[in-house]
Amino acid sequence: MHIRRPPPPRILVNNVSCMRNAQTVLRNINVSVHDGSALVLTGANGSGKTTFLRMLAGFSRPSAGEILWNGHDITSPGVYQQYKLQLNWLSLKDAIKSKFTVLENVQWYEVLEGKDGNASLPALELMGLGRLANEKPRMLSMGQRKRLQLARLLAIGRPIWLMDEPSVALDAEGVQLLEYIIAKHRKEGGIVFVTTHLPIEIEDAMYLRLPQRFPRRKTLVDLLD
Ligand SMILES: Nc1ncnc2c1ncn2[C@@H]1O[C@H](COP(=O)(O)OP(=O)(O)OP(=O)(O)O)[C@@H](O)[C@H]1O
Ligand SMILES: [Mg+2]
Repeated sequence: MHIRRPPPPRILVNNVSCMRNAQTVLRNINVSVHDGSALVLTGANGSGKTTFLRMLAGFSRPSAGEILWNGHDITSPGVYQQYKLQLNWLSLKDAIKSKFTVLENVQWYEVLEGKDGNASLPALELMGLGRLANEKPRMLSMGQRKRLQLARLLAIGRPIWLMDEPSVALDAEGVQLLEYIIAKHRKEGGIVFVTTHLPIEIEDAMYLRLPQRFPRRKTLVDLLD
């Protein structure tokens, strides 16, 4: 009898630990991620969520274990050259250039990607920034700057999204748009890693709650009780 094997995961986080500043931040993490999946990382401040994304991006190396992409270790230089082209990183630093217009801030990334720049305006329009396209970014509020970052993600169109607290500064409609583009991206086979402190609705997501790293000391919050 022929037994059909399940497909190998696109990304396998295999017993990974990570040190920062000579301390273990992440310990023995295991996750299998297939095309179309989402992993939501939660946990207290300092628990290692951003560190986990940095490791997936190849900015930090695991101190033990391995991260495999299509079965290959992402830290091997030949593999990393290919793997990094799959990634789109959205962080709290928005890398918005003040001299460029809003549209140019998206198009610049699209053109660097070897595309013609035609996806940028529709992406801004989807994110509700169409009428600000020709303005300078100083005209943008915090939430609008976040929307610009999300428009970039759409315009560039890479398959693996690494999103560090993408809903920060977004209003209710902005969060709905975020949920919409994540769902659409996954339907097209994309993969999403999201860290968040705020609830984001992501259907059939996997959740990884990172444990608190140190025995907790009393804080002002305890005194308020
Ligand atoms: N550049 C760095 N060098 C050394 N240690 C760092 C560095 N950045 C963070 N750390 C440490 O690594 C630990 C995990 O930090 P990380 O930024 O991954 O947490 P986080 O879960 O993303 O927290 P937050 O919810 O505040 O964003 C923290 O204890 C922090 O002190
Ligand atoms: Mg963080």
